[in-house]
Formats: sequence, C-alpha cells, structure tokens
Amino acid sequence: MRKVLVTGGAGFIGSQIADALIEEGLSVEVIDNLFTGRRENVHPEAVFYEMDIRSKEINGVFKKARYDVVFHLAAQMDVRKSVADPAFDADANILGGINLLQACKNHGVKKVIFASTGGAIYGEQVSFPASEDHPQNPASPYGISKLAFEKYLQFYKSEYGLDYISLRYANVYGPRQRGDGEAGVVAIFFEKLISGEKAIIFGDGGQTRDFTYVGDVVHANILAMNYDKCGAFNVGTGIETDINTLFDAIKAVVGSHQERIYEPAKPGEQRRSVIDYSAIKMAMGWQPKVNLTHGLKKTAEFFKTRSTV
Ligand SMILES: NC(=O)c1ccc[n+]([C@@H]2O[C@H](COP(=O)([O-])OP(=O)(O)OC[C@H]3O[C@@H](n4cnc5c(N)ncnc54)[C@H](O)[C@@H]3O)[C@@H](O)[C@H]2O)c1
Repeated sequence: MRKVLVTGGAGFIGSQIADALIEEGLSVEVIDNLFTGRRENVHPEAVFYEMDIRSKEINGVFKKARYDVVFHLAAQMDVRKSVADPAFDADANILGGINLLQACKNHGVKKVIFASTGGAIYGEQVSFPASEDHPQNPASPYGISKLAFEKYLQFYKSEYGLDYISLRYANVYGPRQRGDGEAGVVAIFFEKLISGEKAIIFGDGGQTRDFTYVGDVVHANILAMNYDKCGAFNVGTGIETDINTLFDAIKAVVGSHQERIYEPAKPGEQRRSVIDYSAIKMAMGWQPKVNLTHGLKKTAEFFKTRSTV
C-alpha cells in the first residue's frame, strides 16, 4: 500500500483530498498546524500530526513514515493578508515549503503534488482564459510565493530527481470552506446571507473569477498522483463569473432578500481571472464535472446544516 502525506490536511481542500485518498485505499497521514484548519475535518483513519511545516520536527515524522507521495497544501492562502504582511506569507509559503522539500529529499519521497494558484500566478491577464504559458506577473505576495515554490520544485527535480506536479487551482469553493476570514468569497457570501449579516462587495463587483468546485479539484489531485511526468497544470473551468452575478446566485440559492452593498476595492486584487484547462485534459483526461449552479446547491447544503448546529 502506498503511504502518502497531506500537508494542510485539516483544511478545506486538503481534508477532502485526504478523504479521497483513504477511499482509494492508501495509508494517509496529515500535518497541519490548525491555523485555519479544523481538527474535525481530519478523517478518523488518517494519522494526524498537529505540527507546523516550518518546524524541524517534521523530519522525525518523515523518517518514521517513509512517504511515497506528498500532497502539499499547507499555506498562508489569503491574498489580502499577503499584501498586509508579505513576510508572514513568505515565511509559511516559501521557507515552510523549503523545509518540507528538504525532508522529502532526505527521506526518500518520490513525488510532490503542490497546490499552486492559477488565480494569482499570472497576475492581470493579457489573454483569456490563461494557459500555463501565459506571462507570470503575480499582483500579490501570495502569487509571488506560490510562483517561487514552483521554481523550487523544478530545482529539486533537476538537482535531486524529486518528481513534482504543480496544480494551479482557480478559485475553489465548496463544503468546508471557511467564511470567517477575508479569503473565499463564496463561503463568505454563504455565511453572511444565511445569518442575515451584511455581505460586502469590494469594488464594483465587475471583477471576475473562475469558480471551480472542490470535488473537481480533488479529482485532479488523484489523477496527478498517477501521472508519470512532471509539470504545471491549470485546474479551472475556463468560465468567468463576476462577483455581482455570484452574489445574486448565492442569494437565490439561500433565499435571501439582501441588496448588494458596495465598499472600495481592496489593494492587490485582480480585475479578471480565468484559466484554460486544455493541458490537464490532454495529459490526464481531467475536466470539470460540476457547474456553478450545481456546485452552489451542494455548497448551500453544507452551510445551511452548519448554521443550525
Ligand atoms: N481555496 C482556493 O481557492 C485556492 C486556490 C488556489 C490555491 N489554493 C491553495 O490550496 C491550498 C489549500 O487551501 P484551502 O483553500 O484549503 O485553505 P485552508 O486555509 O483551509 O488550508 C490550508 C491549511 O494549511 C494549514 N496551515 C497553514 N499554515 C501552516 C503551517 N505553517 N504549517 C502547517 N499547516 C499550516 C491550515 O491550518 C489549513 O488547514 C493552499 O496551499 C492554497 O494556497 C487554494
């Protein structure tokens, strides 16, 4: 049986990757410092280490476990926070990432699958949807740290033969996403509209994103594990949705009557973002299966249940 590690496996996306890997019959371990993750997200069959990826302690875990594959999702993932505190972002996403790669190199890991970003790595796009060879001009420290880690992955491949795949996710949404921070507009709108609090649209709401359902992202990770080449692949829908349209769609799903409320745009935010998934379709046969209408309905079930507990 293959043994795998999911960093950030108590988080929104990582925990659902861990669930799917357990269902595939793999032996799964999780490292997470519970900074934004939740203990209850961790599958009962997964071995859980409450640990920071920046700590030297992870070496002991790697030595004991001898992982075949590492899914690396632990990160500071809030674009606005990265603008406010770039050093904190780089500490977790670059230095934490390097600490992890050293452990991979020293303890026989064969492959790393990295949660990169198609939403932030390309910066303000010049072509739509962006394919993987689009110019990379990240508009935030978060985008810069993710791009830097992709370069470290290339280095560890060429220097030490560590295989990797970077999956550049678009804007992921779905059950278990947290709506109490500043990141994750879908979750924020759901929580606010269900609880009757004000849901704010920053800017004019004309900014666009490529909203991709978490189950589709999980599937891309499973395919990437079994794919035998290295590289970076976009994981998105190729469909652009503006924030006003998203707000109205969520409002309809939850049956809210709240009007749109606008406040000034936040710094470091891109105007338009949408990515092309042709490369991963060609390489691994992946394509999105859950459209936004269906995905929002599935997400609503989660948030409605949570609001009653
Ligand atoms: N949600 C999206 O739209 C999106 C888009 C592109 C990429 N990503 C990437 O996917 C990954 C998962 O994001 P998510 O949306 O599930 O967010 P999340 O915050 O739920 O998951 C991140 C997890 O990492 C943990 N973590 C943070 N810093 C850590 C550290 N130093 N050591 C150990 N654990 C740490 C958190 O506790 C959390 O459980 C991140 O790398 C993120 O950058 C997410």
